[in-house]
Amino acid sequence: MFRRLRSHNDGDRRENQHERSWKICNELVLRGDAAMATYLIRHSPRLSGEVEVSTAKNAVLPLLAAGLLTEDPLVIKEVPRITDVETLLGILRDCGAEVKRSGNDVSVCALQPQSPSHDEHMRKLRASILVLGPILTRSGSACVGLPGGCAIGQRPIDLHLKGLQAMGAQVHPIGGRRQLSGRLTGTRIYLDLPSVGATENLMMAAALADGLTTLENAAKEPEIVDLANCLNRMGACINGAGTGTVTIMGVDRLHGTIYKPIPDRVEAGTLLCAAAVTDGSVLVRGACPEHLRSLLFKLAETGVGLRETPAGIRVNGRAISPFEVRTLAYPGFPTDMQAPMTVVALGCHGSSILHETVFENRFMHVTELNRLGAQIRVEGGMAIVEGGAPLRGAMVRSTDLRAGAALMLAGLIASGETILNDPAGHIERGYQDLPEKLRALGADIEQTEDLLGL
Ligand code: EPZ
Repeated sequence: MFRRLRSHNDGDRRENQHERSWKICNELVLRGDAAMATYLIRHSPRLSGEVEVSTAKNAVLPLLAAGLLTEDPLVIKEVPRITDVETLLGILRDCGAEVKRSGNDVSVCALQPQSPSHDEHMRKLRASILVLGPILTRSGSACVGLPGGCAIGQRPIDLHLKGLQAMGAQVHPIGGRRQLSGRLTGTRIYLDLPSVGATENLMMAAALADGLTTLENAAKEPEIVDLANCLNRMGACINGAGTGTVTIMGVDRLHGTIYKPIPDRVEAGTLLCAAAVTDGSVLVRGACPEHLRSLLFKLAETGVGLRETPAGIRVNGRAISPFEVRTLAYPGFPTDMQAPMTVVALGCHGSSILHETVFENRFMHVTELNRLGAQIRVEGGMAIVEGGAPLRGAMVRSTDLRAGAALMLAGLIASGETILNDPAGHIERGYQDLPEKLRALGADIEQTEDLLGL
């Protein structure tokens, strides 16, 4: 009843354990627990070869939302085939935009954007809130359901709303939705936290507001710079993106353009970590070193060999030395790399400490890693990893997007077979073809088919 995908040649020795693992996968499917995806991961040899990074999920999502700012088509190139993108495209259609995919490119054309009507779509994705600024600034009113996304913390939207209010919007709660109305006027806004989403939403809203908006304590992430570059190509007047102070002089209208987003720094970092935990030798093509500086410093500290080349980043050898790291807003160490870096710490000899300061609930992978035999304890906002404990394959569950990727890496270094159950399809939400990319480097990973497709 259960079909295996892309099976490798099984050695006789492993056959029994392998059949047992697939039996468990079948049971998961029967129970309805593995409806989205289940991965069977075997201890894998050193990863080697070359792998290409996709464009950045967290750049593509705001860029697609920016399509609501103009009546012309906005074409985004090389859009990754991941479910978060598909969900957002559904929301943009719900907002009245015409959305077309042509090969890897997506065009968004919004003659008259309107508020999304399906709150359940908004709830699937944090980035859904990025339709708010564009719709409000374009049409003078917007009513949106509250966004969802990975359950890694409370993730309120107060900074988005406060900023829009400061620009003149009236904000009213209506049931579980927020109704905003009013013509926006530029002003000076101080963000209590350098929120990535709030900076993006306010930048888009200010692009068509009257006069000058100044965002103080703005987020500096590369995805902010990418959005500002695209908006400027569309006729906006934005300066300072990538610094703590961003100024936006509103213009009357924006026009369409064709834009290629930056490479995905989190995917690139995850692939670098995959090589580092398997003592591999891998060229991560398209990875941008400037966007990955904090991670590269940390990996170098562990003893991994790194070389920046015009084609990307080459990584050689194993992480050995323990480390301490603190997640922070960019250019600090990215919270999205905390879970994969925890797996790196498992192979280092001694105690590593990972402090999480951005989200209050981002250690859910720790319980799952401990099921594999890892020795990690969480104390307040930090995870203390006693590296060197042998990992043994077991059944684990993906709790969020980056946790899922981290567990996949842990499966590569655990002995025997690891069954990674991802009932919510977290990994496919954010990584295009991650198992396939790892497999091309020599990893031994199989994936079940969607139960519905059987
Ligand atoms: C973006 O989320 C990313 N998502 C996240 O990636 C990433 O982890 C995060 O930035 C930090 O780098 C997208 O770009 C789609 P924030 P965002 O607003 O914008 C608090 C992944 O795995 N906050 O910078 O939601 C918030 O609770 C994801 O790809 C408020 O208090 O992050 C958090 O503690 C997960 N009020 C902190 O700020 C607000 O109004 C940073 O959040 C907004 C945020």
